[in-house]
Amino acid sequence: MSEDIKSIHEFDIALLCEYFSNLERQGPGSPEVTLKALSFVENLTQESKIADIGCGSGGQTMILSQHVEGQVTGVDLFPRFIDLFNKNAASLKLDDRVKGVVGSMDNLSFQDEELDLIWSEGAIYNIGFEKGLQEWKRFLKRGAYVAVSEVSWFTDERPAEIEEFWQDAYPGIDTIANKVGQMQKAGYVPVASFILPENCWTEHFYAPQVKLDEKFLKENQGNKAVEEFIANQRHEAQLYYKYKEYYGYVFYIGKKI
Ligand SMILES: C[S@@+](CC[C@H](N)C(=O)[O-])C[C@H]1O[C@@H](n2cnc3c(N)ncnc32)[C@H](O)[C@@H]1O
Repeated sequence: MSEDIKSIHEFDIALLCEYFSNLERQGPGSPEVTLKALSFVENLTQESKIADIGCGSGGQTMILSQHVEGQVTGVDLFPRFIDLFNKNAASLKLDDRVKGVVGSMDNLSFQDEELDLIWSEGAIYNIGFEKGLQEWKRFLKRGAYVAVSEVSWFTDERPAEIEEFWQDAYPGIDTIANKVGQMQKAGYVPVASFILPENCWTEHFYAPQVKLDEKFLKENQGNKAVEEFIANQRHEAQLYYKYKEYYGYVFYIGKKI
């Protein structure tokens, strides 16, 4: 990694929250992809209980909730995202059955076999894909589903620059075949996996950041931490455009047996 580019782990959490709370989504994805993943999930009813773990401000949760019946609980570590989540749910008149709560994905307060579906877009990396799938399984009924998106390698080998970047950002990154294997090992039938289209990064994630970066820099003129953070975000986006045939987000849908 070049000397002036920091690791994402070195930035202040408050700064990350402030920046990402300005965006509709906090990770790559799109409404179309959320609905495609949902199309593999069966047996949901009005009685269903659904959790969206690492929901952020709830961009994907609101789409999901508009296409399922039942109770939806969004869980995120940061109160700022949960406030926005609950405001979003209220403005869409979903707040009678869609609620955000502050909590950590490694200490969830659901009952055993309570849930019909666990959803998590771009967030399971915080606990680790394999560990998250293993730990969350007990909250699912038999025959219930998990649907998570996760950064994955598309090839067995890749250029050193991008390998190094991801080994630092998320050493748990692996190939699609290995992730599917981990899901099966964790006690799920791997029902489907599919690669998120490039527009989930370009149009829905990086394009809104271009505008936000300018505003954020203007509002925080002379703030070195902000300048470094924006430089980092730009570097990450440049790497994506350069190496997008080697990696991306993949949705994995599994059924608990
Ligand atoms: C890349 S964002 C994805 C957010 C949202 N799912 C989306 O796709 O827009 C990752 C989310 O995980 C949340 N997070 C990080 N660590 C967490 C933890 N231990 N428990 C719950 N949420 C966590 C972050 O606050 C953030 O909202």
